[in-house]
Amino acid sequence: MKYPKEYLEEIKARLKVSAVVSKTVNLKKRGKEFVGLSPFKNEKTPSFTVNDEKGFYHCFSTSEHGNIFDFLMKTQNLKFGETVKTLANLAGIRPYTFSKKDEEREKHWQQYVSIYSKYIEFYHAALLKNSSSELAKDYLKKKRSLTTEEIQKFKIGYVEKNPSFYERIKDKFDEKFLKECGLFYFDEKKKHYAERFRDRIIFPINSISGQPIAIGGRTIQKDNYLAKYINSPETQFFRKGNNLYNLDRARKFSNSIDQVFLVEGYMDVVGLSNNGVENAVANLGTSLTEKQILMLGQFFNEVIICFDGDESGYKAAVRAAENCIKELQPEKHISFLFLSNEEDPDSYVNKNGKDIFLSFTKENKVSIHQFIFSHYHKQSTGSPSSLAILEKKLRSIANSIKDEFIKKYILEFFLEKLSFFTPNINNKKKFIPKKISSLKSTQKIFNETKSLNRIELKEYSLLFLIISNLHFFKNRLDNLKELHLFSNENKQIILKIINYLENNDPQIKSIPIDKKILDKVNKYASIKHILKNINNDEHKLMEIYDEIIKDLSAFEIDLKIEELESKFSKDLNENTFDQIKELKKLQNIN
Ligand code: UTP
Ligand code: MN
Repeated sequence: MKYPKEYLEEIKARLKVSAVVSKTVNLKKRGKEFVGLSPFKNEKTPSFTVNDEKGFYHCFSTSEHGNIFDFLMKTQNLKFGETVKTLANLAGIRPYTFSKKDEEREKHWQQYVSIYSKYIEFYHAALLKNSSSELAKDYLKKKRSLTTEEIQKFKIGYVEKNPSFYERIKDKFDEKFLKECGLFYFDEKKKHYAERFRDRIIFPINSISGQPIAIGGRTIQKDNYLAKYINSPETQFFRKGNNLYNLDRARKFSNSIDQVFLVEGYMDVVGLSNNGVENAVANLGTSLTEKQILMLGQFFNEVIICFDGDESGYKAAVRAAENCIKELQPEKHISFLFLSNEEDPDSYVNKNGKDIFLSFTKENKVSIHQFIFSHYHKQSTGSPSSLAILEKKLRSIANSIKDEFIKKYILEFFLEKLSFFTPNINNKKKFIPKKISSLKSTQKIFNETKSLNRIELKEYSLLFLIISNLHFFKNRLDNLKELHLFSNENKQIILKIINYLENNDPQIKSIPIDKKILDKVNKYASIKHILKNINNDEHKLMEIYDEIIKDLSAFEIDLKIEELESKFSKDLNENTFDQIKELKKLQNIN
C-alpha cells in the first residue's frame, strides 16, 4: 500500500526537520543549520547537522542522511506506516487509513487541486496578456504600485466580466463536483452556472504545501453594494480557520527569519512582499483561530499581529489576543503592532519602505500580555467594582493558558500590575526590602542596618540570645549543632561557641570571639530589648529561640525559591518548577 505523494508532502511541509529531531536530540543553531550530538553514534563533538531549508539531516561521523520519515524510522525503529501515523499526528493532519473513503477523498483532492490550478493559471495569464484585463492591470500597477514580478509571484489574476471558464471545462468534470468546488454557483434566474469571481482581481490561497485550494477576489468597481472582497466558500478541502494566506511561501523564510507578521488582508501581504518583507501571512477575513497560531508556531518563534489602525482592526486584535494567548508556549512569543488610524500594513510600507517599517515594528510592538493588560485597564474607571472586574477578567485570561509554566508567569505579571491598585494590602512576603521595623531605637542604627539584610540581623539576634545565655545553651549543645546559618562569619562564631562550651565552663573562661564582632552582635540584635524583660525565664527563652529559628528557615525557603525562580526563567526546566512548587507548599505551612 502506497501513501499518496501529496499526503506525505503535506506532512513534510508542516513539520520542520529541526522540530522533529529536537524532540530527541539537543540542537544548537549554527548559521542556517542546527548541530548536535549524533543519535547514531556515541560522540563528544557534535557531527550531526539539520538543515530545515533542504529538509534533511546529515551525520558526518556515520554518513546517515535523510528526511523526517527516515529519522523516526532509524532512531525509533518504527515501520514506515507507524512513522507516517506518528508524524501526521504531530503535524495535526488527519490519519490516512487506506479505506475506500480515504481513496475517494484522495481522488477528489487531485481533481480539486487540478481545477483550481487550471482556473488560476488561466486568469493569471489573462491578466498579464488580455486587453480586457487592462483596467485591472492598471489598477494593480498604478494604484497599488505592484510590479509584474510581484503579480507573478502571487499568481494574481483577473476574471473578466463575462467569463467562459465553466463552458471550457464542464465536460472534463462531474457537475456536482464543479458546483461543490466553490468557483461557480447556479444562477436560478439565468438558469446557468455563473462564476463567483467575475470582474474581480483574484488572489490564490494555497495549502501549506503550496497547492491552490481557494480564492479571494477584490472588486475594482466603486459600487458600494458590492462586497469589496469575497472568498471561496468553505469546501471539503478549504477551512478558513485552518489556513493562512501566503503561509506556503512565508514558511520558507522561517529558516533565516524568526518572526512572522500576521496581517488582515491579501493586499497587506502582497504590499509587504512588494517592499521586501516576505515573512507575512493573512488570516482570511475571519477572526484569528488557535489553530492558525499553532501553525505559525511550527515555523516561527514570534508572531507579530499587525491589523489595521482603525477601530475594527483594534477590535480584531483584542479578539485575536484573547483567542491565541491560550496557545502561548514558553519559547514562542506573540506581540501586537498598532499603526495609526487610517493606516494598514500595506499603506504604511508603501509610504515608508521596509527599513522604517521594521524599525517601527521593533520600537512599537507590545507583548500579548502587556496588550491585554492595557486594553482592560483602559476600560476600568478606577472604582473598586471596576477594578474587581479587571482582576477577575485578567485572572480568567491567565487561567485559559494551556501551558502551566507560561500560565503562572502571565498571572504573576497581571498580579504585579494589579498590586499597584492595592498599595496597602501587603500580600507578598519580600525579604529583600531592608526596612527594619523592630530596630527603631535610633535613626543612626537604622541607617547602618539598612545595608545589612534581614537574615543577618536575625542571626545577630540569635547569637546575642546564645551569648547572653551560655549556661542555658551548654545543656543544649545538640540544638546549636543543628543550626544552619547563612552568613559565613556567623557560622564561624557558632562553631567557636560550640567548641568553647564543649570544653569550658562559661563562668571560668571568657569566650574567644573577636571583640569587633561581639560589638556588632550587641549593636544590631533587636532581641536585646525583649531579653531584658524575661528575667531568665527558661521557657520564654526557648520560645524566643524557636521563633528565631522558624524565621530563619522561612528566609531560607524564600531565598531558595528566589534562586530557583531565576534559574527557571532561564532553563524552563520542569524539575526546577516542581522544586519551586514544593518549596511554596513549605512556605505556606510556615
Ligand atoms: P480591508 O477592507 O481592510 O481591505 O479587508 P484591505 O486589505 O485594506 O484591502 P484594500 O487595501 O482596499 O485592497 C481586509 C480583509 O478582510 C477581508 C478580506 O480577507 C480582506 O483582505 N474582507 C474585507 C472580506 O472578506 N470581505 C470584505 O468585504 C472586506
Ligand atoms: Mn488596504
